[in-house]
Formats: sequence, C-alpha cells, structure tokens
Amino acid sequence: MGNRLKDKVAIVTGAGSSGEGIGNGKATAILFAREGARALLADCNPEAAILTKRMIDEEEGESEVFEADVSRAKDCEAMVARCIELYGKVDILHNNVGIGWLGGAVETMEEDWDRIISVNLKSMFLTCKYVLPEMEKQGSGSVINVSSLASIRSGPYPQLAYSSSKGGVNSLTQSLAVQYARKGIRINAIVPGLIDTPLVQPLKALLGEEIMEARARAVPMGRQGEAWDVAMAALFLASDESKYITGAILPVDGGLSCWVK
Ligand SMILES: NC(=O)c1ccc[n+]([C@@H]2O[C@H](COP(=O)([O-])OP(=O)(O)OC[C@H]3O[C@@H](n4cnc5c(N)ncnc54)[C@H](O)[C@@H]3O)[C@@H](O)[C@H]2O)c1
Repeated sequence: MGNRLKDKVAIVTGAGSSGEGIGNGKATAILFAREGARALLADCNPEAAILTKRMIDEEEGESEVFEADVSRAKDCEAMVARCIELYGKVDILHNNVGIGWLGGAVETMEEDWDRIISVNLKSMFLTCKYVLPEMEKQGSGSVINVSSLASIRSGPYPQLAYSSSKGGVNSLTQSLAVQYARKGIRINAIVPGLIDTPLVQPLKALLGEEIMEARARAVPMGRQGEAWDVAMAALFLASDESKYITGAILPVDGGLSCWVK
C-alpha cells in the first residue's frame, strides 16, 4: 500500500468494466485504493463493480459498491449522500463513465444522440452538482473528468455524438475549474488516446482483429495505452502533488494528439 491518497475519500463512477479485463475506471479505483483512498465504486452494473471491490479487498484496501445510473439526478444525489454517510466527506470525484458510439449526423438516431450526451456529458454535470457543495464545505477537492482524444481530433470513423459529448466534457471542466479555483477545488480532464480496454472490444467485433493493429500503428509510440496509464494520470491529478493544476486537459495518448501523418 502506498500513501499518495492517504486519508482521502474518492467516488469513482463506472468503477466496473464493461467486459472481461481491466478498464480505465476499474484500474483507477484499484490504484486509488492501493494509495490509501477509501473508494465508493459507483456503477449501473453492480456485479461489475463487485469484481473491482474483490480485487481491492484482496489488497486489503477499503471500498464499497453503489448502484447508480449517473445520467439520473436522483442516483447522483443518492450516491453523494451514501459517500458522506459512509466516509463523512468526498475528496476526489473521478468521473469515468462514458460510452462509445459510431456514426455521423445521418447515421445517428435522435434517441442515440440524446443517450450519448446524457451518459457522457450530463452525468458529469450531475455528479458535480451534488459533489461540489460538499467539497466547498471542506474547502478542498479534486474532480477528474475522463474525456477522449475524440474531443479534439477526428479519426477515420465518424463518432459525432461521442466526440461532441467529450468536447462538452472539456468545456465543462474548464468552466468549473475557473469558477472553483479560489475555493480549493481543482477540476481537470484526462484525454485518453487509443487505450486497449474492454470498451473497445465491440470495435473488434465490428471491424475485425486488424483494427487493434491499426490502432497501435496510429500512435507515435507504436502501441495502444493500457488502463493503468490512464489510472496513473488520474492518481497524479487526484493527489496533492498536482495542487497547482486546474483546468488542464491532459492527453494520455502516446503522442497521438501531436502527430500529423
Ligand atoms: N478505451 C479507450 O480507448 C478510451 C479512449 C478514450 C476515452 N475513453 C473513456 O474512458 C472511459 C471508460 O473507460 P472504461 O475502460 O472504464 O470503460 P468500461 O466500459 O470498461 O467501464 C465503464 C463502466 O461504466 C459503467 N457504466 C456505463 N454507463 C453507466 C451509467 N450510466 N452509470 C453508471 N455506470 C455506467 C459500466 O457498467 C462499466 O462497468 C469513458 O469515459 C471513455 O469514453 C476510453
């Protein structure tokens, strides 16, 4: 056990994984607990979050599962209330929930657009709505929003709703960062590039095995990232080591955002 988050309490949304293996949220929850945080593992699929809790238990970390659909205000309010009831405070809000979507304006149905914006963007507004007053009372806190490289760069496949939702995440991050800068609350975003997590498995099913090689080739470092790369960045932003950093949109992308091919 480390102590970079000793005595801190974290809420991690989407703390399970959508498939076998370790996704960004799961890796982050495990790493936070490994560094001493007590973690509330929120997920709309409690079974997935229970698997994360088991891994934390094995390392003698402290966590609790909370079932919540973070696109719903009531669930977000209840999630924060549960965290206060359990641990008495919230130091870190890690907004990891996000779902993918392929298609442009013509291919995207209105209800799909609404769902993606709701799960990927509205959810972060809602969790902040209920967490920020608690952090304000404490006079401290760190919020980390998981965005995507798709928010600032377009790839070969159109992902209009997804890209737009993540662009909104960046704006939400910077706007709140300025508003809360004098209140001891830091708000940053992580921009993962091409990360090999369970979330991208449907791409394999849709586009074939070659897509994984193509993803690796597309990166200056010549490989996809791992969930642990995203988790390490989150750990830094969650800890007091980043105490002078707010409003940052931090790429974790092997150099992809700098590369013009
Ligand atoms: N893998 C990549 O290449 C990549 C790239 C850029 C950004 N990202 C971002 O990383 C984040 C997710 O990473 P992951 O690996 O943890 O994904 P994941 O799909 O493995 O896990 C996400 C978890 O979120 C839960 N979830 C989904 N909708 C929810 C909701 N409405 N309320 C509560 N829980 C919900 C799922 O049940 C799942 O357990 C997303 O924000 C995604 O956009 C990933």
